[in-house]
Amino acid sequence: MATEGTVLGPFHTHDAPVADCGYVLHEDPDAPKLFVLCSVRDLDGKPVPDVVCDVWEGDAHGFYDVQNPDRDHPDGRAVLRSDQDGVFYFTAVVPVPYPIPMDGPVGAMLNLLNRHPNRPGHIHFMLEKKGYDTLITALYPRGDPYETSDPVFGVKESLIVDFETVDEALSQKYNVPVGTKLLNYDFVLMSDKEARELRGERSKKALQKLGLDLDIVDGLPVPAVD
Ligand SMILES: [Fe+2]
Repeated sequence: MATEGTVLGPFHTHDAPVADCGYVLHEDPDAPKLFVLCSVRDLDGKPVPDVVCDVWEGDAHGFYDVQNPDRDHPDGRAVLRSDQDGVFYFTAVVPVPYPIPMDGPVGAMLNLLNRHPNRPGHIHFMLEKKGYDTLITALYPRGDPYETSDPVFGVKESLIVDFETVDEALSQKYNVPVGTKLLNYDFVLMSDKEARELRGERSKKALQKLGLDLDIVDGLPVPAVD
């Protein structure tokens, strides 16, 4: 099954540095580190090389670089590329929860609904390659206090991850200290064709539930005629 997508969120930018795998996402040397080791595969389990992997996250205090009024360069973000084995990796900080801004209409709405503004900690990913359906998603560490009450409803069970620890072998291979927290995840991309077929199938089913027997052609419903 392909990896589920989730919200893009407002903090993606287009000025992240293009970097090699192994890049350290944050400049804060004191932040608790998380080694993120991922692979990208297709629906048949084959590695997908040359995927552009755009990653971004807040800092160890829950703030994105764009929330800093003095920001003069990107921090906490990078654009990497999967290798011949479909693998990409980088060092992040352990994600922490953060409140979404409450000074606008969204804040007023959350107050009226008696909901808190705190998003559970997460790291964002956007994976793109020509011929594949672009995946915009995020990974959420299990056990976050806001895991079940995310104000933007971005958490999905398949995107909740358990951290492991970097062992001796990984430490040697990736030059990361033994004992560093480890996030290991395998993303699965659909081809454009597979995604189009699945959307068509699901749209048709949804229309059938409404009593409409329509075909889906190029993503649009058309009357089924013999
Ligand atoms: Fe976010």
